[in-house]
Amino acid sequence: MADKFTIGVLTSGGDAPGMNAAIRAVVRTALANNMDVVGIKHGYEGLLNGEFNSMGPRDVGGILQRGGTVLLTSRSKHFIEPSGQRDAIRKLNGGGIDALIIIGGEGSMNGAYALSQQDVKVIGIPASIDNDIWGTSIAIGTDTAMNTIMDAVDKLRDTASSHQRAFLVETMGRNSGYLAVMAAIVCGAEVTLIPEVPVTVEEVALAIEDAYKRSKTHAIIINAEGSGIRTTELAEKIDKMDVGFTTRMTILGHIQRGGSPTAYDRLLASRMGVKAVEALVEGNHGVMTGLKGKGIDFVPLLDVITNKRKVNLEYYHMAKVLAR
Ligand code: F6P
Repeated sequence: MADKFTIGVLTSGGDAPGMNAAIRAVVRTALANNMDVVGIKHGYEGLLNGEFNSMGPRDVGGILQRGGTVLLTSRSKHFIEPSGQRDAIRKLNGGGIDALIIIGGEGSMNGAYALSQQDVKVIGIPASIDNDIWGTSIAIGTDTAMNTIMDAVDKLRDTASSHQRAFLVETMGRNSGYLAVMAAIVCGAEVTLIPEVPVTVEEVALAIEDAYKRSKTHAIIINAEGSGIRTTELAEKIDKMDVGFTTRMTILGHIQRGGSPTAYDRLLASRMGVKAVEALVEGNHGVMTGLKGKGIDFVPLLDVITNKRKVNLEYYHMAKVLAR
């Protein structure tokens, strides 16, 4: 009797809330289609080390609501090299793995494409709080991170108003201003700094002073980590200028990556996990699942890695108007 078709699943790069929901969906959908599933620990690094475990339905029980990734993750330097990819293919063949589902961000999709070019059947599932992956209107984990930011800024605003302070808040996002811009809208920020729109410290100071003159009780300044101005430096400089408010700063950091996924992320991850397995059942591969309109589509991995996702600057301007 021929061996069953075996899917390997791994999570790679920065963890994102909802990765577990995606793993669960992959495992249970594959089993429902009479396929076997092998969980690969520690992302591409674990693939190179042959960290393989067969997964049954109970192995993914109770993980839907958990942040992080039960498969663990890593940023593998060796896998980026062609020799690393060659070793990975050897491990896949040795482990009897017929296809790979890779849950991760931009870097992970680059790795997925590289494997697909060497005849490995690969499906990508986009998961990154940064929402910087081309081909999907939103990635798994972004909504939860947005809610974490919103919760934190709401709390900071309470204390900022009580003391009439300007509060600088740094959000993650690597080279993308997505989280910062959307946070500015949902949190009502007075100023937003993003990599896509350079501004000077003087312009930020003027905007804060303007908010003070307009009788605002506080000013919230969202600084994306990739904006080009470090939050600590910005806070020090603004503090020395007379802008009306006194200044404080908070770097939200990795808190944005953790926590139980929102309903939105659980649903998105479940839908993408199911679709990824369905693609393999239909003989489709070399693609990433992407949310387009209300449906989950398949986008060629080549398009994913050759196109750059841009922040819609309409939202940047909207945040400004709404801060009047
Ligand atoms: O890509 C997700 C992300 O959290 C980015 O926003 C951030 O720049 C980076 O990962 C931080 O990476 P690490 O956890 O390896 O420090």
